[in-house]
Amino acid sequence: MSSERDSVLHSWCVPANWGAPTVTGGHGAWLVLEDGRQVLDMSSLAECSNLGHQHPRVVDAIRRQASELCFVTAAWGAAPRRALAERLLELAGFEGGLVYFTLAGADANENAVRIARLAADRPEGLIITRERSYHGASHFGMALSGDARTMHQADAAAWGVRRVPPPYSYRCAFGSTTAVDCGRRAAAAVADAIDAEGRERCAAVLMEPDAGSNGIVAPDNYWPALRTATRERGVWLIADEVMSAFGRCGEWFAWQRHGEAGRPDLMTLAKGLTGAMIPLGAVVLSAAVAGRIAGRMFQSGLTYCGHPLACAAALAALDAYRDERLIERSRALGAELLADLRRLQSRHPVIGEVRGGHGLFAIVELVTDRRTRAPLAPWPRQSAKLAALLRAALAEGVSFGARGNLLILAPPLVIEERELAGAIARLDRLLARYFPSAATEQRA
Ligand SMILES: Cc1ncc(COP(=O)(O)O)c(C=O)c1O
Repeated sequence: MSSERDSVLHSWCVPANWGAPTVTGGHGAWLVLEDGRQVLDMSSLAECSNLGHQHPRVVDAIRRQASELCFVTAAWGAAPRRALAERLLELAGFEGGLVYFTLAGADANENAVRIARLAADRPEGLIITRERSYHGASHFGMALSGDARTMHQADAAAWGVRRVPPPYSYRCAFGSTTAVDCGRRAAAAVADAIDAEGRERCAAVLMEPDAGSNGIVAPDNYWPALRTATRERGVWLIADEVMSAFGRCGEWFAWQRHGEAGRPDLMTLAKGLTGAMIPLGAVVLSAAVAGRIAGRMFQSGLTYCGHPLACAAALAALDAYRDERLIERSRALGAELLADLRRLQSRHPVIGEVRGGHGLFAIVELVTDRRTRAPLAPWPRQSAKLAALLRAALAEGVSFGARGNLLILAPPLVIEERELAGAIARLDRLLARYFPSAATEQRA
């Protein structure tokens, strides 16, 4: 049988080495493979299938919209687009704001930056982002991201981007020994960067408020401190909620955990917006930002902005999150997940730190030595043993997400408790199998 490797160039891989499974269907947190096997999805594929696979409500909505109207140009109106914009503004409490629809996360971030620059009246205004961040793999997305894989493909300075160290308290760039201090100093570093560049030259700060594929989970004090620092300096704050929204971090939008103290000026969405069942991204503008651009020409556009099929899917997805109480469910199961992982940490010295757990998103960072925190492999490489563990898990019917030394646990919010418990038990056994010597050494 021919392989997809012979005809498709896949993302983030060496083409000649591609060998991932082929998926033919799914239900709930399960994927069905071409050979008929079922695999429990512990990463929501790309941390995006928050509603699980083939959620019937979203599938029906796409079908119904397709029979009515598949497409209308982005310049004209479309009923599901308007309804979706109104729902998003209401959910975020951004009354008087506006929504700009895109196709995915990267272009949402690009457009958020353009809107922020327009609203700041600084067409070339500086954008502050952080190291170890990910905002997309378009060219501008790469310039915005502090991602080891793409950083060298785009000259950040040429794009008007400056990066600061992240609030990574396990390996704090500021030498802090507590999470709170690291969060405080990381937020202060943003303030210092704005002051050093001159606030009149800065347009926006763009950051992930919680979950991110680079494995940073900011200490609780970070985001409110960032909000204060940016507001005091008249610089827009953009929350990249592409991964963290729609229950992933236990709220509709992760910043809401901090209440008004966390409210950004703009936020970007994608992934869970449609439960990933059809591509859609969005930039949500506060009333203040919308007011600043109301009378000005916005020179941007994509043929498929606010595609009716995608908007209808997103409306159904929002109904499913609400009616199935999935945001609350994620918060409750996220706390259980964190507790379970902490129990694993007490048994497996290879686990250096467990973080996250505000919703169904947790990071397990693996080390060779807990005392020195020496990583299992230098970031962003992955150790052969971890790669083998992931292959074994897949062969046994569980797909875990990973980056470098990090396991990223982000199952669909519809996962059942016994399925979650089963996956953690399997991880426990696999850690014992692949990292036994470390355990023995530490106990000795
Ligand atoms: C925080 C964040 N921002 C932006 C993106 C880019 O989104 P997309 O792949 O839809 O362009 C991602 C994707 O993983 C992400 O995690």
